[in-house]
Amino acid sequence: MITLEKARSHLESLGLNQAAEMLDSRLDSAAQRQLPYPAFLADLLGIEVQARRERYLTTRTRLAHFPFLRTLEQFDFGFQPSIDQRLIKELATTAFVADAANVVLLGPPGVGKTHLCVALGLKALEQGHAVYFVRAHDLMEDLRRAQAEHRLDRRMRVYIAPRLLIIDEFGVWPYDRMASTALFSLISARYERGSIMLTSNKGFAEWGEVLGDPVIATAILDRLLHHGHVINIRGNSYRLKDKKRAGLLPMVHPEQEVKAGTEQI
Ligand SMILES: Nc1ncnc2c1ncn2[C@@H]1O[C@H](COP(=O)(O)OP(=O)(O)OP(=O)(O)O)[C@@H](O)[C@H]1O
Ligand SMILES: [Mg+2]
Repeated sequence: MITLEKARSHLESLGLNQAAEMLDSRLDSAAQRQLPYPAFLADLLGIEVQARRERYLTTRTRLAHFPFLRTLEQFDFGFQPSIDQRLIKELATTAFVADAANVVLLGPPGVGKTHLCVALGLKALEQGHAVYFVRAHDLMEDLRRAQAEHRLDRRMRVYIAPRLLIIDEFGVWPYDRMASTALFSLISARYERGSIMLTSNKGFAEWGEVLGDPVIATAILDRLLHHGHVINIRGNSYRLKDKKRAGLLPMVHPEQEVKAGTEQI
């Protein structure tokens, strides 16, 4: 009994609290199953490893600032046939994060751009990559403020550090020159160093207008798309699917799709 207490105390001093807590029950179970010593040790330490992994993922997920949590398994690809499922599966391996490649998702509202970003972001977290999610409007405001207060370099580090930066809802509003220049600096700093996943409801041809400067837009697109996958989603809003089914709103047919303008660059 004293040995058991000693073992528990050692586990606690080593910070293996989950193993310390489960020691009694795992010992009982090992005795019942007549487990050899190595198997018992692997079982007990496995509990600690699992608990740590879950804690790590919970913390990393909180730090990623996702607007909601959705997985790839929850995504109904049948509803959005324009999405190349094979490409999404390949991206889910997160090899693109290791390669510092980018992903741009284009499409109208409600087609699942943010859902896919969050789901792929979660996969990247599971693979141990740091992820940070930010809405383009918040990012631009933040960078603009930092620039005005002469602390852009320091602030920029927040967006340069994560292995995967997700910029959501680019182009909903037009940006002023200061914001556009700051965005260019960020994209340049991450170029070939860290991945960006960006969503937009504006085709590339409209980015010049959004950024207030076609030269900045071209320079940004050049870096973003050099090692980049473009996912151009054409289809109906998932948010409105029940209303459309009920005949309250017209369905979009493939030939009426929103032009993403990929072919124009
Ligand atoms: N194919 C799908 N299968 C399951 N759920 C989906 C699918 N597409 C979208 N959704 C869900 O519908 C809602 C809207 O999707 P999401 O926010 O990803 O759209 P979006 O393309 O980012 O739209 P917006 O441009 O307005 O931001 C979310 O709750 C999302 O989980
Ligand atoms: Mg969205």
